Amino acid sequence: HYANLKEGNPMKTILIRNATIMTMNERGDILTGDLLIRGKRIAQIGGEIAEGGVDRIIEADGKVVLPGFVQTHIHLCQTLFRGRADDLALIEWLRERIWPLEAAHSADSVYYSAMLGIGELIRSGTTTILDMETVHHTDSAFQAILESGIRAISGKVMMDHGTEVPLALQENTQQSLQQSVDLLEKWNGAGDGRIQYAFCPRFVVSCTEELLIGVRDLSEQYKVKVHTHASENTGEIAIVEAERGKRNVVYLDHIGLARPNLILAHSIWLDEEEKRIIKERGVKVTHCPGSNMKLASGIAEIPELLREGIDIGIGADGAACNNNLDMYQEMRLTAFIQKVKHGPTVMDARTVLRMATMGGAKVLGMENDIGSLEEGKLADLQMLDLEDFHVYPSYDADWFSRVVYAATRGDVDTVIIDGQIVMEKRIMKTIDKPL
Ligand code: GUN
Ligand code: FE
Repeated sequence: HYANLKEGNPMKTILIRNATIMTMNERGDILTGDLLIRGKRIAQIGGEIAEGGVDRIIEADGKVVLPGFVQTHIHLCQTLFRGRADDLALIEWLRERIWPLEAAHSADSVYYSAMLGIGELIRSGTTTILDMETVHHTDSAFQAILESGIRAISGKVMMDHGTEVPLALQENTQQSLQQSVDLLEKWNGAGDGRIQYAFCPRFVVSCTEELLIGVRDLSEQYKVKVHTHASENTGEIAIVEAERGKRNVVYLDHIGLARPNLILAHSIWLDEEEKRIIKERGVKVTHCPGSNMKLASGIAEIPELLREGIDIGIGADGAACNNNLDMYQEMRLTAFIQKVKHGPTVMDARTVLRMATMGGAKVLGMENDIGSLEEGKLADLQMLDLEDFHVYPSYDADWFSRVVYAATRGDVDTVIIDGQIVMEKRIMKTIDKPL
């Protein structure tokens, strides 16, 4: 199995039979019937499909099939730092807890931190991630991504500025750019296209203008994403305003980084000008509700950003922030926090589930390949066993509400990525080497 993942997917057909299929397509169609996977892609969907010549049949009677979650902000390198977020706000938490631990990482610990994180992600239905690593050993994280089978965009974090940053993590500008390019040339497109590189300047607080200009030019040259944090915390914003004389998004726009390939994690404290820039330039946003609450960063104005037509995905952030990487929890938090603030009808379950699937796909510019179950798209999906769901009669329950408000990661039965079964019947197959 491990060898297969490394060599890419041998042409294989899988027939899923008699499922309830939440397509998450534009119309929100929910179909009953079969789904045929041929190689990496969905060949046919809905109705009854002849079973002649398939390699594998999965009986899905009474089960629910939906797209794998697309999580648009993770730090795999922080999985081993779980339980370290208590009672600190962002800048103190980074300085006192996270940066010393990132500085202490070895190639091995980055590898195991990534594998552990990926195991949890797949276990809870996530099939694609946008990841940000630490300054060193990013090669090990890519190796774990390759071996695990998850679809990922990742990159080494870039930090060449900031008195708060420990010496062990402070980089020389040119070296930071060069090491990023070296990793990009090695990993972008690896795993038969399953893996992509993104430049990851950590946040304005830790980056010189020279570095950000370099990232602007190189991301344009290589046609890759830029993944950063912005406007997460009022202390962070105050540092940026004091040093650069501008708010985060205005400053990034001034540099020329506010473009459709820019993905901003958090985006909680946006003023009107920042919102206008994000909308006009096609900048993408990632919402991290668990992290935003745990670090007491604030409440992002997600309903307003959605109304403006801004593409928004959801991410758990690092396991060090909110202590888990479970998209079922993040979806519920996304809905609950807005309901408490704006009232019960502010965001329905379908909107939340769309953010976790197609929303994320759009943020990553991958909406033609993932995010919904449609013929021709890549076969990235999860199957839920909701058999013991205690609603009777359950067949007339609203499927979106069932999944968003009542499903848990324990209901995830099977996960398929790129046409490969990476988890099945609660037996993890991603890690076949003893830890
Ligand atoms: N801002 C800069 N670095 C980080 C990080 O590691 N986590 C979070 N939540 N915010 C950040
Ligand atoms: Fe983060």
